[in-house]
Amino acid sequence: MQVSVIGLGYVGLVTSACLAEWGHHVTGVESNLDRLEALKNGGMPFFEPGLSDMVSRHAATGHLQFTAAGTDAVETADVVIVAVGTHDGNGGWQTETMLSTLSDVVPYMADGSTLVIRSTLPPDFIRQVPGLVRSLRHQAGRPTIPAMVNPEFTREGAALRDFLEAERVIFGIIEDPDGHGLAQLTSLYERSTAPVLTMSAIDAAFAKLGSNLFLATKISFANELAALCDAFGAHVDQVVTGMSYDSRIGGSFLRAGVGFGGSCLPNQVAMTVRTAEQAGIPSPLLAAVNDINHRQRLDFVERLQTMSGGTLDGKRVALLGLTFKPETDDLRDAPALEIARHLLSAGASVVAYDPMESARRRSAELVPGLQVVADVLEAVTDADAIGLVTEWGEFLRLDWAAIRALVRRAVVVDGRGALSADAVIAAGFDYASFGRGVRSPVAVPDRPTDRAASRSPRRRHGRQAEGSGREPVPSLRVE
Ligand code: UGA
Repeated sequence: MQVSVIGLGYVGLVTSACLAEWGHHVTGVESNLDRLEALKNGGMPFFEPGLSDMVSRHAATGHLQFTAAGTDAVETADVVIVAVGTHDGNGGWQTETMLSTLSDVVPYMADGSTLVIRSTLPPDFIRQVPGLVRSLRHQAGRPTIPAMVNPEFTREGAALRDFLEAERVIFGIIEDPDGHGLAQLTSLYERSTAPVLTMSAIDAAFAKLGSNLFLATKISFANELAALCDAFGAHVDQVVTGMSYDSRIGGSFLRAGVGFGGSCLPNQVAMTVRTAEQAGIPSPLLAAVNDINHRQRLDFVERLQTMSGGTLDGKRVALLGLTFKPETDDLRDAPALEIARHLLSAGASVVAYDPMESARRRSAELVPGLQVVADVLEAVTDADAIGLVTEWGEFLRLDWAAIRALVRRAVVVDGRGALSADAVIAAGFDYASFGRGVRSPVAVPDRPTDRAASRSPRRRHGRQAEGSGREPVPSLRVE
């Protein structure tokens, strides 16, 4: 099929490359000329494992082309997919980009083609789409066209697999009187082996939103559970493992830590709370999910402060990881950046390292005062405390005995529960993580700083001695 994809951001570019992989002829339309030029020359606007190879393979065969000329591209397409941004970056929706894209594209689409919206849409916007499409077609003196939504469920870092081996594909019908739109979407996904669910557009939009809201809720639940584990001396990984064998619960998205970041989960929780408020509907659960998530970042800073002697003023903190999760260079709502700002305002000097060069460069611009270095050992040298924020594979293989020789004070706060606590402690570090207690190389009576930490239940961490066997069991199913 001939496909046009409007907007070559994360969603649009992944969609374009994967549809080309399935043998479709795809034209990606991008209005940002720098981005377009880069793509034409084989450059990627962001990092996604495998994407660069896939794009260059299909660009070489001509299955994937890039252009700024949306009109030409849509005139010949069987399906036009719109993948432009719909959030304002400040916890709100914005639909101006979608509206102007539809005005630019819909009048020129071929008669008999189908409009597919892949962007996540604000629920009340969907109602406007049929009237808008009909009037744009009418003004152009052309017959109307079917309009569908096809939400994406792709995780950054695993986007190609999530697309090509999706767990489900959802088709939502905005307007499709004779079933032609559904038939075209079905042909588009002919190569997919995933179950296809067809429903109304509003149901499809809520299925997408609901999935992200539930994932966010699971994470905040795990974080609240972790606080309880800390207060009563339980180990959250063991607890979650114990829960995960119940098929009604499962183990994924229950990893306690500094909480969720990125462009999707935090925004969609905040936007839904706001939308519910505007509709006069209470949403106390999602408000709590949001609050807990933000509290985790502050809690991480407090843990660093407590463990580095009660004050951050004049201390040197090494932050490991800047991106919102591993295998991406995305810094949107990355917990590390907010944490760095708090540490700096508490008087610490902060030296950060991330394996992604582009993320290092942009972080230094985004957080004034943050020092960013290109080597993890340089980051930890002379540190009073080390805080791990993103669980990149490189950090899981660190030689903690070698690091012990470089630091000023042996403190590690593991914001993702990703390190081997036993290995870190065996190298002589005090170690803390969410729901995994505070552990030291030798069992010693509580220090004043620990007593301070135990005043609030959220700051009370169970103390365990070296080798207490509290490592996650190999069967751990937490993702
Ligand atoms: C999320 C969804 O997972 C995708 O299904 C969805 O398509 C996408 O949003 C979207 O709406 O476009 P993504 O933002 O790439 O994908 O990231 P996730 O893998 O969901 O991770 C989000 C955050 O949660 C990360 O900061 C991660 O570190 C954190 N997280 C994840 C936890 O803190 N604990 C966990 O157990 C899992």
